[in-house]
Amino acid sequence: MKLTPEPVAGAGIVLRPWELADADILPSLCNDPLIQRFMPLFPSPYTAEDALMWVTQGSAWSDTGVAFAITDEKSGEILGGTGLSSLHWTRSMAEIGYWVAASARGRGVAKATVAALSQWAYSKGFYRLELLAAKDNPASQRVALASGFRREGVRSKIAPDREGNRRDLVAFVRMRDDAPGPVRRLLPDFPGGVLTDGVVNVRPLRPTDVDDYLAIYELPEVAESTIGGEMTSDEAYRKCHTAESAWLSGDVAECVIEDAATGAFAGEISLRYWQPMLGEALIGYSLRPEFRGRGLMTRAVDLLSTWAFRDAGIVRVKAGTFRENDASRAVLTRAGFTWEAEARAFLPGPDGTRIDDIQYVRVSPDYQASVSKP
Ligand SMILES: CC(C)(COP(=O)(O)OP(=O)(O)OC[C@H]1O[C@@H](n2cnc3c(N)ncnc32)[C@H](O)[C@@H]1OP(=O)(O)O)[C@@H](O)C(=O)NCCC(=O)NCCS
Repeated sequence: MKLTPEPVAGAGIVLRPWELADADILPSLCNDPLIQRFMPLFPSPYTAEDALMWVTQGSAWSDTGVAFAITDEKSGEILGGTGLSSLHWTRSMAEIGYWVAASARGRGVAKATVAALSQWAYSKGFYRLELLAAKDNPASQRVALASGFRREGVRSKIAPDREGNRRDLVAFVRMRDDAPGPVRRLLPDFPGGVLTDGVVNVRPLRPTDVDDYLAIYELPEVAESTIGGEMTSDEAYRKCHTAESAWLSGDVAECVIEDAATGAFAGEISLRYWQPMLGEALIGYSLRPEFRGRGLMTRAVDLLSTWAFRDAGIVRVKAGTFRENDASRAVLTRAGFTWEAEARAFLPGPDGTRIDDIQYVRVSPDYQASVSKP
């Protein structure tokens, strides 16, 4: 299939073929750090020669793809670039890609672009469009979900980076006959970005939390109760840099507990949505020693559970503790959980041993209301 770019109108934007005059502006737009980081096939640095090469030759590779400039509908200013590239054109599949100039971000340009280019592609006979984003590029993943592309999985080692390594990318897909509108997320964002009761804040884990996050897992009592192996600095880095992606995927809401008065990192808490079909999530947590004994964890567990019931429609929040962990059981009881079961040999322990899990649960108040009716 051979495609020729043509003007395509979208919300506040027009996609059009690249022109010779666009070469002047491209280096200043494409040397932006975020574009350099997430568009690894772009030259680095991006020079005037690269720009000239792109507008005269590179953007015209119509046998394997099609490229457009994203322009402002009114001023004609270049806002970014987009295109389709061939995966299996014989199977009516293509990959959609985009970048937006730093000065034009955060006002819906990428979303308008994906909507306009998708419609154009479907009108040309494509059925399945893919959008691939790095695990540590939540902005692009949000564009995908907001544009109705659902997360399909992870493409392992699909993308070479500038250092010669190969990186995983998250694959999102949208079919021609999918319903319009954004993808509904299992784990929505916190309203206003944070849960707070004035004493503790519970907010999403971020890339800047690596040191604090690692330090808490290095505490002996936390390391001993962590299932799945020792936390290394590489793992802490990976966790903090991909936490937003894991949240967007609906797997787990990884959070930091802050002392609301000072903003200090007091601990961590997570809610893993392990059984979406049953509406059941698992909560886990740990607090730095200097913040213990003040009821902070009880507050954090209550805030996160209340959000899970109210905003994520979760019905059961469960937590397991080791038999000897009286402090954790006291937190759960004070946060409205009740003992439910003793799961024998439920957890893998050190050296091939198994550990009993003492399980507590708190049930959504909506459900409790419905079962208490006659
Ligand atoms: C990713 C990128 C294209 C987003 O462009 P944009 O025009 O700012 O995105 P939009 O304004 O259309 O936002 C679309 C959605 O993404 C969300 N979003 C965009 N940037 C975000 C950010 N930095 N943080 C959180 N959310 C973000 C918006 O909130 C919006 O979601 P909503 O409709 O649910 O509110 C831009 O940041 C960019 O060019 N990055 C570098 C290159 C790149 O990553 N390209 C994609 C490679 S896969």
